[in-house]
Amino acid sequence: MALRLGDEAPNFTVPTTAGTINFHDWLGTGWGILFSHPKDYTPVCTTELGTVAKLKSEFDRRNVRVLAISVDSVESHHGWIKDIDETQNTTMNFPIIGDPDRKVASLYDMIHPNADDTLTVRSVFIIGADRKIKLILTYPASTGRNFAEILRCIDSLQLAAKHKVATPANWVCGEDCIVSTTVKDEDADRLFPEGVRRVKPYLRYVAQPKS
Ligand code: BEZ
Repeated sequence: MALRLGDEAPNFTVPTTAGTINFHDWLGTGWGILFSHPKDYTPVCTTELGTVAKLKSEFDRRNVRVLAISVDSVESHHGWIKDIDETQNTTMNFPIIGDPDRKVASLYDMIHPNADDTLTVRSVFIIGADRKIKLILTYPASTGRNFAEILRCIDSLQLAAKHKVATPANWVCGEDCIVSTTVKDEDADRLFPEGVRRVKPYLRYVAQPKS
């Protein structure tokens, strides 16, 4: 059955470009992102991996470990990484899983046969410190992902994990948040002493809580 939000991220032990990784041990107590690439030596994937390498400090700052997967071997990945570094002007700084037998791709339902029966789609799984799946994105091979959006989602998820807030459309870090619908109106002012702006009984804004 396909994975859903709130499910525990399935564990696996796999070869990667940084040695063998047991996923849960490797996550430790931090957050994680697992994202798939259809194939090595392909153009869109090359730009995506270079982009994430450049953003690695942003993931680190959020305590998010980054793990990529492509359905080729680790040996193939090592050759491809030379091209990524050369063409994207970066140094790869996170592991790529070798998955030629599609073990992880199948476990995470990353192959969508009506799109392509051998390559993965571009899946993204954001996993919380509790190892539960917090967000799933699925893009086709032809659309490179927007990693600023993924960082934005992580900011929203981490805020909601700490505070009783949600984030409105197009929110970016620093902007006002929405009081969670689970907060009763009589509790809102106590929970958010800096002020609650009530637009409707169900639409209440607060300044972004400080972490
Ligand atoms: C790409 O990354 O550009 C790509 C991947 C798989 C199939 C086609 C293109």
